[in-house]
Amino acid sequence: MLSETITAAAALLRAGRLVAFPTETVYGLGGAATDDTAVARIFEAKGRPSFNPLIVHVPDLAAAEACAVFDDRARAVAAAFWPGPLTLVLPRREEAGLSRLVSAGLPSVALRVPAHPVAQALLRAAGVPVAAPSANRSGGISPTRAEHVVASLGARVDMVVDGGPCAVGLESTVLDLTGERPILLRPGGITPADLEAVLGAPVVSGSDDPMAPKSPGQLLSHYAPDRPVRLNATEARPGEALLGFGPAPGATLNLSESGDLVEAAAHLFAALHALDDARFTVIAVMPVPDKGLGLAINDRLRRAAAPRT
Ligand code: TXA
Ligand code: MG
Repeated sequence: MLSETITAAAALLRAGRLVAFPTETVYGLGGAATDDTAVARIFEAKGRPSFNPLIVHVPDLAAAEACAVFDDRARAVAAAFWPGPLTLVLPRREEAGLSRLVSAGLPSVALRVPAHPVAQALLRAAGVPVAAPSANRSGGISPTRAEHVVASLGARVDMVVDGGPCAVGLESTVLDLTGERPILLRPGGITPADLEAVLGAPVVSGSDDPMAPKSPGQLLSHYAPDRPVRLNATEARPGEALLGFGPAPGATLNLSESGDLVEAAAHLFAALHALDDARFTVIAVMPVPDKGLGLAINDRLRRAAAPRT
């Protein structure tokens, strides 16, 4: 791998562009995890109709600890399996400046230290945490060669770093350590038995759909703002905050005055958070077109507006 290639790829990442790169599992579609617009571009390029939280890649444990709160369990499994195909879901450190979109609004973040030498070199050169789902269009098969990425994403990615075929070919194991009991969210090469041997505790199986309740008390509306959300608003009623889209002189905040869906996706979680404030009774949201990234934005807004339980 030419160092010029790595330097160029790292510069693109720092500039908010998308770079596909090899890991030991599959090729990732990378974007700066601190840049809301870069993360929105990842969702746009993948063409998913909803926002699922993405894995943030860092070169080592020290960089990971800057992004999330590690306890003794997390340090033990990190020492045993990093670098390698294990992803840990841990509480976010807000001071790390990670995009809210990368966590899909959740208070946790998924972190992984990949072992592939090209991924390692790129992450060190980039100097920013890199969000990277598998580098394929939604619904496509996971890419294990640079040609697969080009065939699936084409011009939607700014650069593909070719590191040859991936060794594992199966995405990383995802382990949730945000609660008392370790939960396996996605099976992978590192097995529950491997994890249990290090943790000295049973690992229970969970769903890898982070919107699914983890326990009976945890329903969809758990992820909604405290204030009620009113959709398809044209103006603010007394006491309401108005979240605009497109030209909207009366809006309290605007997802995108120019009606740009990437910009709107980048602003969505921060805007909902800012408007979920005691100054307002309700968050009224103007309509967002149901196409492209608008599908994922509307999916999230409908969840936020769903009746509370
Ligand atoms: O092998 C891999 O992990 C590949 C390579 C490129 O590193 N990456 C990958 O990333 O598969 P991604 O973003 O597609 O994986 C997302 C997985 C999903 O199962 C998602 O539900 C889970 O990680 N996840 C991410 N953040 C989460 C969070 N805060 N809470 C719960 N689950 C989370
Ligand atoms: Mg995938």
